[in-house]
Amino acid sequence: MVRVFLAAVAAALVAIDAKPFFLNDRDIVERIETQDGGHLESAQIVNEEWFEQQLLDHGRDGCGDGQVWKQRYFTNSEFYGGPGSPVFLYINGENVARNTTVVSKNLFMNILAKKHNALIVSLEHRYYGKSQPTTDLSTSNLKYLSADNALADIATFQDYFTANRNLSSNSPWVAFGGSYPGMLSAWTKFSYPNRFVGSVASSAPIELHPDYFEYMEVVGYGLKYFGGEECVNTLSEGLKAFHALVASEKPEDVAQLKKLFNPCAPIKSDLDRMDIESNVMGAYQNFAQNNDWDTYVLKDACADLNAKDGLTPLEKVAKINARSYPACTGSSYQNDIVDALSNPARDTVGIMRQWIYQTCTEFGFGQTAKKSKSPFSALEYVNVERVYYQMCKDVYGITDPDPLIAAKKAHFQGLDIDVENVVFPSGTIDPWSALAPSNSTHLKNPKSSVVYIEGTSHCRDMNAPRATDSGHIVWAHQQIENSVAKFLQK
Ligand SMILES: *[C@@H]1O[C@H](CO)[C@@H](O)[C@H](O)[C@H]1NC(C)=O
Ligand SMILES: *[C@@H]1O[C@H](CO)[C@@H](O)[C@H](O)[C@H]1NC(C)=O
Ligand SMILES: *[C@@H]1O[C@H](CO)[C@@H](O)[C@H](O)[C@H]1NC(C)=O
Repeated sequence: MVRVFLAAVAAALVAIDAKPFFLNDRDIVERIETQDGGHLESAQIVNEEWFEQQLLDHGRDGCGDGQVWKQRYFTNSEFYGGPGSPVFLYINGENVARNTTVVSKNLFMNILAKKHNALIVSLEHRYYGKSQPTTDLSTSNLKYLSADNALADIATFQDYFTANRNLSSNSPWVAFGGSYPGMLSAWTKFSYPNRFVGSVASSAPIELHPDYFEYMEVVGYGLKYFGGEECVNTLSEGLKAFHALVASEKPEDVAQLKKLFNPCAPIKSDLDRMDIESNVMGAYQNFAQNNDWDTYVLKDACADLNAKDGLTPLEKVAKINARSYPACTGSSYQNDIVDALSNPARDTVGIMRQWIYQTCTEFGFGQTAKKSKSPFSALEYVNVERVYYQMCKDVYGITDPDPLIAAKKAHFQGLDIDVENVVFPSGTIDPWSALAPSNSTHLKNPKSSVVYIEGTSHCRDMNAPRATDSGHIVWAHQQIENSVAKFLQK
């Protein structure tokens, strides 16, 4: 999902010069699918399929205004045991759906589908990929983009699919998803308790608020976990010195900043200062969020920070930064954020304009530094006023997101959600875990459970078992497998 947000926007622009960084930003589940050559269960070709009668506005369902659009999906019936056998629904979120998902051997869901003779279905989310309900992404058209409509799409799709495939009405459905789709997976069971017997909600940040300063606290925790006090202390000193350069207008400081961080454009305002600070921070967001997949991750950053190489903390931070932004570091709020997010043209590949709209109208998730108890608190320009409120206003004209986020939280109950048969896996190193159920969460419903995994990051449990798995991952898979078996018990 939900992934690094501001940094990702900036990275998309830098990408022309800095391809490696852009690749870092790939959807995590796509990376799971494609690892080791992306083994498939069989050689079959999975064609895209379409549900042509999806409703645009479920809120108006029944009022006669039944405008419809085409929603894309993929299926795999090679394990399907026939009438009465389960259906496993893979929920997509802010990503382009792929034909490989339903056949990938690398996804734990598919291993479980084989075990339970399940029919596998993957449904693309409205406004992402080829599932475009409107002619463009203008702000007025984006009003139909919401988790609520996506959930209603799932219910409508389920009825269509059941009829279209002659499935028996008592086929048990289980929902799967990680990150934003993990939220949707939990909320599907919450919204439609009788349509789904249960769901797996991996790395699902279901607690919603605008200032998500805890993200950087988990990044700080991860750095300490792999690199000790020394790593976070050096980083903290380096970031303080970097912030001092960003804040200064003295010619020698501007020259030093240019030499060490090479801003892509002259810094003219505090919003530009926020932009470059959040880009520098974004590198560490990626190290943490992709810790289980990338080649340079938290322990490598700490190895560089702890190295006895004669560099000052500031120079170390600059050296690490140059890995992520080899050409230059984004420093124009207008270019990197406002312009990058404002193009209303229909986009079947890009996801940022749609996703950030959802954060401004539904979820919050502003990734800030200032309030965090972490080395990143030195980056004082990265506060919620700039990163979130100002951005939502400048890009979408949304001036008061607070009541929207509060209403969504009230509806889905945040971490107080009372929902049966949902298993919530998440990892201690995952920056999104601070908003997901963990071992310190008291789940209201005793039929749901938490699988809090030591030392793993975002969506790690979604990967099928591998020989190199830690004992913690083996334990987590066992818990998830047991939960799914329990959901399916007659
Ligand atoms: C997925 O689609 C691509 C492009 O249409 C095709 O080349 C590939 O063979 C498909 N993969 C599967 C597993 O069907
Ligand atoms: C569903 O049943 C109808 C009528 O019996 C039949 O024509 C159709 O081929 C069946 N569809 C599938 C996918 O089995
Ligand atoms: C969470 O609690 C379970 C059950 O007590 C335990 O097995 C697991 O190791 C805990 N996770 C962490 C990260 O402490």
